[in-house]
Formats: sequence, structure tokens, C-alpha cells
Amino acid sequence: MSQLVFLDGRIVEVDAANVSVLDRANLFGDGLYEVIRCYSGSLFELGTHVERLLAGAAALGVTHDWTQESLESGARRLQAETGIVEGEMYIQLSRGPAVRTHYFPDSQFPTVFITLSPVRPIPADARTAGTSVITCPDMRHGWCHLKTVNLLSNCLAKEKAHRHGVWEGLMLRGLDTMALPGSVEEYCDAPGELAAVSPGDEFAGWVTEGASANVFVVKDGRIATPPKQNILPGVTRRIALELANEAGYEVKERRVSAKELLVADEVFLTSTVGEIMPVVNVDGHSVGEGEPGPITGKLAHMYTERVASCAASVQLRG
Ligand code: PDD
Repeated sequence: MSQLVFLDGRIVEVDAANVSVLDRANLFGDGLYEVIRCYSGSLFELGTHVERLLAGAAALGVTHDWTQESLESGARRLQAETGIVEGEMYIQLSRGPAVRTHYFPDSQFPTVFITLSPVRPIPADARTAGTSVITCPDMRHGWCHLKTVNLLSNCLAKEKAHRHGVWEGLMLRGLDTMALPGSVEEYCDAPGELAAVSPGDEFAGWVTEGASANVFVVKDGRIATPPKQNILPGVTRRIALELANEAGYEVKERRVSAKELLVADEVFLTSTVGEIMPVVNVDGHSVGEGEPGPITGKLAHMYTERVASCAASVQLRG
């Protein structure tokens, strides 16, 4: 069936509406959307929906040339060209395609597309007889143990790290969510949560993981890393745990309080790309002596050996 789509200012057939695989909506969920009801050919509350979309884009720092007028006019043009009078319109605005980095690209080429489909029928008696519901835990952003592409929060953490000129954003849970910032500017401009905290101060949350890495702390020769719940249990994390056991260190998977970062002798990150990466400073506080520690060094060395022996065995087999 022929379906028309508005894509970046042009109306094209859906099969010709090509969006890059590198679009950040595809890679990270780095985009916004609206759904608008079309009644008798008129887009209900179009202005309000477009306003919310543009406000979201401004809050997330998506830079684009779209205006309230140009988006509304695109939506109306699509409605007119499809001729659909009872419909459901979908508008999506993403940060667009870019080489995959969690932090925002220097130049943004946002993607906008709009679709309009005939309205899905609602059972005739639903409104008169009423409907039933079921309760569910609110798992939004909660499926961290699966390596899903719902990575907008991770992108924001990495963008904050990037703007502060540091390697990684360590994510904390248990902070006062009522006080969370409402725009990426506010979020990124704020100092780290521990900047003004000293070890004796009040609870400052639990460390879960980095934006794209797992985290370990070392204190008095003992190693700890946050448990698998609420993190992506990385492949590199698993190897680091194996290596730490092999080397005879005491290792625990347990909750790690944010303030442990302030008193740790060593902190390190693990990830496929970063491998075993020492952390020497958290929110302006030096970790230990302010230089990579011996246990991190030992594990990093063992990791390099593990990689080399795997590569060698592949060569032998080849
Ligand atoms: N990310 N935690 C998160 C949220 C991650 O995105 C990653 C890896 C890790 C470490 O997992 P592994 O050791 O399996 O790489 C932990 C990749 C590197 C990325 O998104 O680029």
C-alpha cells in the first residue's frame, strides 16, 4: 500500500523515506516525538504538540532550523497530500546521523519525519462500558541489564563528562529526583554530585556504572563492584572479576555508595573499548595518591596478557 511520509521537508513514498542507520534515534533513542489525532481532516492541538516537541529539543540541545510554523505547515501538507481525515499523526525529531559517540556530535544534522495513518479503531463499547487495567512496575530506564539501545540517559552522562573535559560520567542512583535538572545545559553545567561532599556528609547515592563502562573500587586491597541489578554486566567486568580472583584478591559484587569513591585507594573502569582504565580523579577529588594504583595496574596487565593469548591462539588455529 502506498504511504506518504514527510521527511526533512519533502513528501515521499515510505519506501523512499530513507534514514541513516547512524541516526542517533536509531543508535541511542536520542530523539523526541509527538502523536497527534486528526479529526475530520483537522490536526487537533497541532500547535501544542509542536510546541512541546520544540521545547524538548531545546532542553536536549538538539540544534535545528525548524520553527513552530514550518513544522505545523509540514504536518498540514502531509495531511492534505494523504487525504487521511481520521488519522493518527506521528512526528519524530532526532539529533540525526553521526559517527557513534555517546556525547553529542560537533555538528548536528537533525532528522524530522512525519507519518499519518488511519486511526486504529477502539472497541465500540470501551468508552461506554469502561476498560480494565493491570499495574506494572515502572521500568523506564530500568532494563539496564539488557544491552538495549535506550541510551539517552547514558548519552547525557557522557555529554556532561565531555563538557567537563573528563573521560566518563559515573551514574548515581538514589539522588533526590525532585531536584533533577530540566535541561541538558543545566544538567551539564552542574558540578559532579560529590564535588561539595566530604566523606562524613549525608548519603549521596549509589554508584551504578559509567555511561559506557562498569566501575570498580579498591580499598585496603579489597575490590568491589556494583552488583548486576541496575547495571549492564559487561564482558570486560566479568573478565576483570575472573582476573582479580585468579590473582588472589578479595572481590565482592555489592552496592557501592557514591562516597566510597572519595575514600577509595583505587577506582577503575572496564569496557570493551576502554579495557581496564584507571580513574585518578572523581568530581575534582583525587583518588588515592592521584595516580593509577597497583591493583588496577596488575589487572590491566593481566587483561593485556589475556587479550594477547587469545589473539595468539586464534593465529595458531588459523
Ligand atoms: N558499552 N555499561 C554500559 C552502560 C555500557 O554501555 C558498556 C559498554 C559497559 C561495559 O560492557 P562491555 O565490557 O561488555 O563492553 C557497561 C560499549 C563499549 C558502548 O556502548 O560503546
